[in-house]
Amino acid sequence: MACLFRRSIAAQLSRILGTSTEKLIPMVSAVPVSKKQQTLDFRVSVSSLLADGCLKFGSTVQSQARQLSAQLTCDDVVTEIAVGKGTINFKVNRSLLAEIVMQEISKKGSKYGIESELFQDYPCGRVIVEFSSPNIAKKFHAGHLRSTIIGNFIANLKQALGNDVIRINYLGDWGMQFGLLGAGFQLFGSEVKLKANPLQHLFEVYVEANKMAENDEDIQKAAQVFFKKLEGGDKHTLSLWKEFRSISIEEYEKIYQRLGVHFDEYSGESLYQEKAQEVLWLMDQKGLLKKTKQGTGVVDLSANDDLSVYAKMVRCDGTSLYLTRDVAAAVDRMKEYNFDQLIYVTDKQQCTHFQQLFEILKLMGYNWTERCQHVPFGLVKGMKTRKGDVVFLEDVLNEARLRMLQNMAASRTTKDLEDPEDTAEKVGVAALIIQDFKGPLLSDYDFDWDRVLQSQGDTGVFLQYTHARLCSLQRTCQNDVQVQFNPAYLQDPQAITLLQHLLRYDEVLYQVSEDLQPKHLVNYLIMLSRLASIAHRTLHVKGSLPKVATARFLLFKGTASVLANGMKLLGITPVEKM
Ligand code: ARG
Repeated sequence: MACLFRRSIAAQLSRILGTSTEKLIPMVSAVPVSKKQQTLDFRVSVSSLLADGCLKFGSTVQSQARQLSAQLTCDDVVTEIAVGKGTINFKVNRSLLAEIVMQEISKKGSKYGIESELFQDYPCGRVIVEFSSPNIAKKFHAGHLRSTIIGNFIANLKQALGNDVIRINYLGDWGMQFGLLGAGFQLFGSEVKLKANPLQHLFEVYVEANKMAENDEDIQKAAQVFFKKLEGGDKHTLSLWKEFRSISIEEYEKIYQRLGVHFDEYSGESLYQEKAQEVLWLMDQKGLLKKTKQGTGVVDLSANDDLSVYAKMVRCDGTSLYLTRDVAAAVDRMKEYNFDQLIYVTDKQQCTHFQQLFEILKLMGYNWTERCQHVPFGLVKGMKTRKGDVVFLEDVLNEARLRMLQNMAASRTTKDLEDPEDTAEKVGVAALIIQDFKGPLLSDYDFDWDRVLQSQGDTGVFLQYTHARLCSLQRTCQNDVQVQFNPAYLQDPQAITLLQHLLRYDEVLYQVSEDLQPKHLVNYLIMLSRLASIAHRTLHVKGSLPKVATARFLLFKGTASVLANGMKLLGITPVEKM
């Protein structure tokens, strides 16, 4: 996109420095716009030239910047060269700026920013993203919601960049909780309630059974018996478990759909009971498994082979653990998919777990271990609904929709909506996502409905509102576009700033692709929306001369398109009216 600009600046530098243009291109970056003052368009930092060996260390950075800029000349593309703080700044031909940005956006559509020279060497491959992964019959907590939206974003991004992406949901669908659930269900379960409201009912039964088990040994025993039978493959027990599992998945799917999330595979811990035993056998063969006095099996992870750090792999009764099953699952995924990357998305409390998992895989001699990555995130405090604590994802979505619907009722455009509930849902989800993605993923945050749903400020509501406004402009002004686009009519400062910001989209995507932090994209889209609102207020389409109206109309159309692309990557469905 910015290719012509970056390339001509890089070519000029190449002539002076003797480094290839290709190598210099990524060092030319668009200058982030500032609301306070006009900026030049591109810059090259002297320290990055030095760091990359394109320039030899000499006098101070500042004087090197001065010397270098004195050797550069303006041409058809570059119209001004200035020395900044340790940088050389470039202004490009104003008419070309408007022409190229507008052309690229309309030509590339959803590929704008992705089909950029910055991604030339981006390695595409097969990427597995494992996310959401709730535990059947247990609470679907804020951590699962975060995993769901963050994982979905990573999967969207990887897919957009051209990878073959596989989305896996690794359910907590095994373990003693099923013993209790099964025993509890036999006592006070109801098939009718199970059909009517499966997640709710399973959770109630589980909570109730748990409570009883505290001072009732009979139910504890019954739970053990149930789980033993399950592990032993008893038909009746297994079929009840299967019913719990499949009915829960059906229910999850409905809710994931409301979030616009889908999975290619519903996996789960249950699939790795047997394979975990194979893993244990293999570890034993390799001499990695150490037996403790109590009879449990551990792997030594200490630096000095003194068992000062270890991971437990097998209980004294021979059953596997969460970690053992994860080893088996990773090995199995490699076999089945031959992945280039395997990404796990969970909260940071599981950092040690994944560190150990990767260390064990390495000890076992799997050379693909470095293809595995854990993306951790922080905790959310205080996510409550009016009814109380959040137990299910559905509660959060319903609350967001309800509150949004109430907020929207105050606005006059809501009356014209065909399906206000659907719009409220999409805006509500956007609000949840933006609130979550605003900061570094690792930070904890306090949840606050009022702040989440504000229509102004850094919120998803503001992004949706801006998108809807730009769409409405397109609907009402379609007929004003009669003439050819002429870049000469996009020279007002508000238009230039917007164009400069659009110019930077590929760099932002690049940054996100490097560290998988959605905040860069969120900040970019919020700024884009702010600039669009300012431009919208001053650069009128209706009532302007046809050639001016056309140019402005196309600028807003392009802005809406980039805004929508970015929102979709984040997992938001942009609304056209609200
Ligand atoms: N079910 C787990 C939980 O709720 C998350 C699973 C994460 N994935 C994994 N491969 N361990 O904590």
